[in-house]
Amino acid sequence: MRSPGSRDPSDPAAHAGDEDSTRLRVTIRAARRDDGPALAWIRTASWRAAYLDIIPARALERIARHDASRMARAVAHPRPGHALWLACDHGDTALGYVWLAPQTDRRLPFLGEVIELYLHPQWQHRGIGRQLLVHAIWSAIAMGLQPVMLWVLADNRAARTFYEGLGGIAVDQRAIELGGRVLQTVAYGWHTLLPLPSLADVRGPLASP
Ligand SMILES: CC(C)(COP(=O)(O)OP(=O)(O)OC[C@H]1O[C@@H](n2cnc3c(N)ncnc32)[C@H](O)[C@@H]1OP(=O)(O)O)[C@@H](O)C(=O)NCCC(=O)NCCS
Repeated sequence: MRSPGSRDPSDPAAHAGDEDSTRLRVTIRAARRDDGPALAWIRTASWRAAYLDIIPARALERIARHDASRMARAVAHPRPGHALWLACDHGDTALGYVWLAPQTDRRLPFLGEVIELYLHPQWQHRGIGRQLLVHAIWSAIAMGLQPVMLWVLADNRAARTFYEGLGGIAVDQRAIELGGRVLQTVAYGWHTLLPLPSLADVRGPLASP
């Protein structure tokens, strides 16, 4: 795999920031042991951009300092039932990832939880997050983790719009404390998969072989 920051200018994905670039052809594959640095690169950049106005800066930086070890552990020592998939361009550069796990909160009527879904800011709004989430939710059936839910910060309006657009229903809310600030979180669940598009639908013609 290429180093996370490197871009081949002849690679169409390198032009994802161009005005006229829209959807990207991505491959979704299971994470490997050597993906830790790429995952941490995505996580840190995505958190800094998405939570700048929500989470206190010092808390954000404290969390970012642990991203490398957290993601290295996730791929080197995956916990039972956990699955982590990357969306990669055709040069195998990781652009985003989704992390699915068994539900640990027995009070919730869900078997699976999407515990992380992050796109590098450079690759957001290209239809990749939709492909990753749909992939994870459909995969949850085979893994015995359906129905699935996830938590999102209430002030993360963009992500909430994204989940609602894919049929997620707000099913719970809780307050958490982060960096000395009390933050509201909302749970979205997919009790029924009827509103969820198929992976083929969200990939569109670009993903065809
Ligand atoms: C939220 C996130 C995962 C969505 O992935 P994405 O690849 O950017 O989203 P997609 O391009 O697949 O968008 C699919 C649909 O979601 C909606 N959507 C996506 N981003 C949106 C935004 N910023 N505002 C409003 N709607 C949005 C749109 O309806 C879009 O459909 P369209 O392409 O037909 O307009 C990604 O933007 C991200 O990583 N954000 C920062 C981190 C984050 O908030 N993660 C979730 C933590 S719970």
